[in-house]
Amino acid sequence: MTSSFAAIRQPPGCAEPAPVGNGKIDEKRKGVLGLRRRLCARLWPRRLASVERINQAADFVRFVGDHEAAIVGEDRRQVWRAAYDRIDRPISYLEFGVYQGESIRFWSDIERHPDSQFIGFDSFTGLPEHWNACYTKGAFNVGGAVPEVPDHRVRFVKGYFQETLRPFLSGFTPRGTVVVNNDSDLYSSSLFTLTTLDHLLTSGSILIFDEFADLQHEWRAFSDYVAAYGRRYAVIAATADFVHVAMQIL
Ligand SMILES: C[S@@+](CC[C@H](N)C(=O)[O-])C[C@H]1O[C@@H](n2cnc3c(N)ncnc32)[C@H](O)[C@@H]1O
Repeated sequence: MTSSFAAIRQPPGCAEPAPVGNGKIDEKRKGVLGLRRRLCARLWPRRLASVERINQAADFVRFVGDHEAAIVGEDRRQVWRAAYDRIDRPISYLEFGVYQGESIRFWSDIERHPDSQFIGFDSFTGLPEHWNACYTKGAFNVGGAVPEVPDHRVRFVKGYFQETLRPFLSGFTPRGTVVVNNDSDLYSSSLFTLTTLDHLLTSGSILIFDEFADLQHEWRAFSDYVAAYGRRYAVIAATADFVHVAMQIL
């Protein structure tokens, strides 16, 4: 017999049926329920993924509607500049996903305070996982070569974030405003970065996303992070398509 505790723990539709009638009916019911369970187990994972996608899209559309006032143009540099204009100097700029260094060069060029620091994290061997049909595992591989940036305030941390970030943070002291540029494209990389940096993201810190409108990756990582950690933020700049977005932690 099913205990009341087990009945509570079991999801609806999965509890053992109460025995009714003679053995024949029980056997028939058992067969139907078994079939139903097997069908659920096969169909629900797929159905849940579709439902999840629809929910993500609806949440994203709502987010865009709520933050249209933050649109500053079509180009990610406009977003970076608008974010930069809001920041107190010096800054500690942490970039996740460097590739050939375009974004870290922009930030170290625009921000000249001598105490600012710029740290770029990347494996420099490409994406650790499949991202999409265009960018599969290994995309953005530069053979381990770090970009040349002739600025002593800029440095690079080579390797997967999951291996380098925690050791890096154990010896890191932020100076001024923390600016985190998430440009690693993947859900796993973005979620790991955000959750690991949570203690550094104090009021006034800036979060930048470079592929924010990717519902299965940066958007999902951001949504999961702010929900799980109860973070509040203001969207301070975005491109019209919301692919490039900057936020300030409240
Ligand atoms: C789109 S590129 C970065 C582009 C660069 N920010 C720019 O604007 O030019 C994405 C980078 O993220 C890196 N990446 C993604 N996940 C990573 C991880 N878990 N650890 C290390 N690097 C990662 C890839 O190696 C790749 O170089």
